Amino acid sequence: MYTVGIITSSDSGYAGKREDKSAEVIKKYVESRGFKVEKYILVPDDKEMLKEAFIKMSDDLKLNLVLSTGGTGFSPRDVTPEATKEIIQREAQGIADAIRMYSLQITKRAMLSRATSGIRNKTLIVNLPGSPKACEEALDFVLEDLKHGIDILNETAKDCARK
Ligand code: MTE
Repeated sequence: MYTVGIITSSDSGYAGKREDKSAEVIKKYVESRGFKVEKYILVPDDKEMLKEAFIKMSDDLKLNLVLSTGGTGFSPRDVTPEATKEIIQREAQGIADAIRMYSLQITKRAMLSRATSGIRNKTLIVNLPGSPKACEEALDFVLEDLKHGIDILNETAKDCARK
């Protein structure tokens, strides 16, 4: 079972003005595919609070995968990619690229997501956009293959044979 943390970056969600549907969608999706959500943190669009949440999930909770949602766009308050880049130790940009590539076939507005992805310790961190629909579309394309990446990161992968 792969362990997951969900971080939502949303000023309105944090202020209690909007229900966090994206986190619900992510939880339901990943738990139907062999992952277990062990921690959920809701923060406002604040770089330091985001960094703290990422670090807690990696350093303290040692989760396999952290999925953030929101804060990847062009609003002056959107800082999730910046927070992520400051706490990762190694880039894994291919995942964010893959999500964008797939999403562009659904909406050209996918080019407006500045999402990134990377590794801190043994934790894989992936930014997802804010809308529940975008989260589901991104997970549709990448989630299954993230298992192999997590196995390699934890040195438990058997081989790289493609399915
Ligand atoms: N990706 C997918 N798959 N589906 C979408 O509907 N919406 C885009 C983009 N990525 C979208 C998507 C839009 S409209 C924006 S503005 C950006 O994600 C950034 O979203 P965020 O600021 O909520 O993170």
